[in-house]
Amino acid sequence: MINYDWYVIKEMRGYMKLVRPSLELKNEHENYVKEWGPSRMVPSSFSLEGFDTYEEYLDALALRQSGHGKWLPNSSYFLMNDQQQVVAMVDIRHELNDFLYNEGGHIGYSVRPSERRKGYATRILGEALKKCKKLNITRVLVTCDGDNIGSAKTIVKNGGVEDESFQNENGELIRRFWIEND
Ligand SMILES: CC(C)(COP(=O)(O)OP(=O)(O)OC[C@H]1O[C@@H](n2cnc3c(N)ncnc32)[C@H](O)[C@@H]1OP(=O)(O)O)[C@@H](O)C(=O)NCCC(=O)NCCS
Repeated sequence: MINYDWYVIKEMRGYMKLVRPSLELKNEHENYVKEWGPSRMVPSSFSLEGFDTYEEYLDALALRQSGHGKWLPNSSYFLMNDQQQVVAMVDIRHELNDFLYNEGGHIGYSVRPSERRKGYATRILGEALKKCKKLNITRVLVTCDGDNIGSAKTIVKNGGVEDESFQNENGELIRRFWIEND
């Protein structure tokens, strides 16, 4: 059985739910990564690179999620459809450090390439904001690359108000938005 740390998301096409990564979802996770291709995984907490087995990945994830080493406490969820397919992923960081304040934000997400432009990013960010509320994160920072129009629209549709941008050491522009979440 799937780990029941999820809740059903109504109103979307079919029956959808947020589910934490678990051994039962190994194949689905790997399918998503395969479809994603060779570019850097977003959010990085879902990257399977450097792990010999899925069990190893899950162990490392559990450690990181509790706040370990460079990782601050965070929670990762798949958005699953009624065919038990992962359509999107989201990572919620419970606190901000300098890097997250400037570049990463509280919430990072991605949508499976074949499922884009169907409203899933807008919805998974909305659901992540509800999780943030439960964590008492009342002012949520969400960021995106300067040229990521889809993500910027997703954030604005969820109430994002743009703050000053940040230019990182590689010269990349990061757009930063705050969402009031109380
Ligand atoms: C950015 C991303 C999350 C958008 O996901 P999505 O499910 O396609 O987004 P939605 O369907 O919810 O669309 C939200 C809005 O953005 C628009 N949009 C989505 N992708 C777009 C694109 N490539 N160019 C222009 N607009 C785009 C949609 O039309 C919609 O606006 P509308 O309601 O005015 O029509 C997805 O492309 C992705 O996973 N990209 C790679 C990872 C990434 O960039 N993550 C975000 C990190 S900040």
